[in-house]
Amino acid sequence: MDFKKNPRTTFKAVNKMTLKEARAEVEALREGVEYHNYLYYVKVQPAISDAVFDKLFRRLQELEEAFPELESPTSPTRKVGAPPLDRLTKVKHTSPMLSLNSALGEAEAEEFDRFIRRNTGTDAIAYVLEPKFDGFSVEVVYRNGVFEYGATRGDGETGEDISENLKTIRPLLLRLQEPKAEKLPGFLAVRGEVIMSKKAFQKLNKERVERGEAPFANPRNAAAGIMRQLDSKKVADKPLDIFFYEILKVEGMEFETHWQELQKFPQWGLKTDAHNSRCSSFTEIKAYREKLAAGREDFDYEIDGVVIKLDDLRLRERLGTRERSPRWAFAWKFPPKKEVTTLEDIVVQVGRTGMLTPVALLEPVDVGGVTVSRATLHNEDEVRKKDVRPGDKVRVARAGDVIPEVVERIDEPGRRRGKEFSMPKKCPVCGTEVMREGAYYFCPAGLSCPAQLIGHILHYACRNALNIEGLGDQIARQMVEREMVKDVADLYTLTVADILDLEGFAEKSAQNLYQAIQSAKQARLDRFVYALGIRHVGEHVARLLAEEFRSLDRLTRASREDMEKIHGIGTEIAQSVESFFAQEENRRVLEKIVRAGVRVEDMPVRREGLILKGKTFVFTGELENYTREKAKEIVESLGGRASSSVSGATDYVVAGRNPGSKLEEAKKRGVAVIDEAEFSKIIGQKKR
Ligand code: IVH
Repeated sequence: MDFKKNPRTTFKAVNKMTLKEARAEVEALREGVEYHNYLYYVKVQPAISDAVFDKLFRRLQELEEAFPELESPTSPTRKVGAPPLDRLTKVKHTSPMLSLNSALGEAEAEEFDRFIRRNTGTDAIAYVLEPKFDGFSVEVVYRNGVFEYGATRGDGETGEDISENLKTIRPLLLRLQEPKAEKLPGFLAVRGEVIMSKKAFQKLNKERVERGEAPFANPRNAAAGIMRQLDSKKVADKPLDIFFYEILKVEGMEFETHWQELQKFPQWGLKTDAHNSRCSSFTEIKAYREKLAAGREDFDYEIDGVVIKLDDLRLRERLGTRERSPRWAFAWKFPPKKEVTTLEDIVVQVGRTGMLTPVALLEPVDVGGVTVSRATLHNEDEVRKKDVRPGDKVRVARAGDVIPEVVERIDEPGRRRGKEFSMPKKCPVCGTEVMREGAYYFCPAGLSCPAQLIGHILHYACRNALNIEGLGDQIARQMVEREMVKDVADLYTLTVADILDLEGFAEKSAQNLYQAIQSAKQARLDRFVYALGIRHVGEHVARLLAEEFRSLDRLTRASREDMEKIHGIGTEIAQSVESFFAQEENRRVLEKIVRAGVRVEDMPVRREGLILKGKTFVFTGELENYTREKAKEIVESLGGRASSSVSGATDYVVAGRNPGSKLEEAKKRGVAVIDEAEFSKIIGQKKR
């Protein structure tokens, strides 16, 4: 039974299996699942489709549930998290987790090189160069190739057991791969860094702020905060990654160089960084650091320097450790991406949707090679929490490509401080009274607010809206600043001469933009509705509205109640749409758009059809956009059936937030589990 190559996906019924058969299959499945995890996450070369992988995974879950005696704490099924802990217990490291001597300057790095040459008595030195990950350092222990536990660094001697959390990290194998013709070490303790990619970090922070939670200051804090959580299920859904870079202790195997170790890691399935390199001179070290520093922003994750390590392990031992750092390694850091500067003022910026965001105006400061003069403060609560006021000294950070952020206030005892910040009552740009929604404030003036106008124009013109090619940021800004465009309707009356008047245009390019605007006069209703940039109306909602009301005229006259009848549209959206069309200013602009010759095409009448005929759905957990009742109603209106329990007849289990035992049941039975987004797709795309 082998699930590594061409795994089979049809299985014998669980209730017809003996324990012996089940054990053999479980073991083969674990090996197979782990192997495919390894191909997918470590080698980044998957050999099977996600669907096949899911089938193997589900089969493994099914067998483990049917035969509890076969359960194992290191089964790959544990990647979804375990019951929450009361507290983290302490563990002593197999060998101390040291820190690194480090410096920014070239002189210190060169001194390290000289020190090594002097004290090893040889000039034939090989170094290994590695990126210095700015993440969360951990120890991971494998016994006979099986994950035993993992720990935080703690004080270097003793850390906290975070095994359950570590187990959920996808690229971390719970069973190592066995290289060809070679046994796995009986004991292996490795050191690595848990990291979160910049992209994942931005997304996570955005979600946190939207939920009214405090954003993490940087990816490292995010990784650290998540890894020290007590509930591993909450860790399992976070996109964390891990890189390994040192052996803390190994038994039953010998290495002569660090480079050999690094070559072995991926063979075992331990992920290493592709930038690791070997060299023998300081000139090469310098070139490596420069290259890494120059490409720093292109890294998907945060690095804050280069680690230079002596390659020869016997020489390492001879040099030993001083205080808490080995003499054989050195971190040549990059300039910090955090600097102290003065907060000159807090202004309020108005975004496309009218959202008011407090922004810190800073005395310009170089942060990691980029001059920073503005930084986001997220929202009023954040300003309060950080308690920053004009005149304060603040620490500013640039976490990756993220917008610069004020991290903290530097306390200056005795200095008289400025006034506490509060959100303005009126839109700082157009003077309209602002409205509040939870932690957020926004200007309801819509298309007539100049600050929102630039954003609106860009949105109006973007690919998925009216697709006016060539209408970019700088151009929109100029149009608004020169008051050539006071609302999106004005775009249509621009002449070639007007456009030619803007900076950066020649006859041909002006002609092109003019043409692009004119061709956008023909617009499909759903795209047009999306283009209007109504709060809460994304592409999907725009399509639902367009399909329901079919003409712009009918849509503008629709009541909130009419809209709420549409599946997938709740009170908040309906209210937003209704109030948008109720505003006189918006009506005026719409009329102007139509008068300018824009023809909004009516939506074709939907084809009726019971697309879910014969399909049975079961819902578990909370859905965001539908009540349970509404979801059932939709399924039924499409010819399907909604049932309250999972059975052999169930086609889909829709799992929302905090799903219940039905999810387990579904997995056990191998029923397809889909999330809310997929459910929306099924009912939305093929609606009625
Ligand atoms: S080696 C004894 N290699 O930097 C040497 N550390 O200040 C142990 N770090 O907390 C460390 N990338 O978490 C090493 N490629 C790398 C590293 C690295 C990041 C971290 C490590 C440690 C800190 C040292």
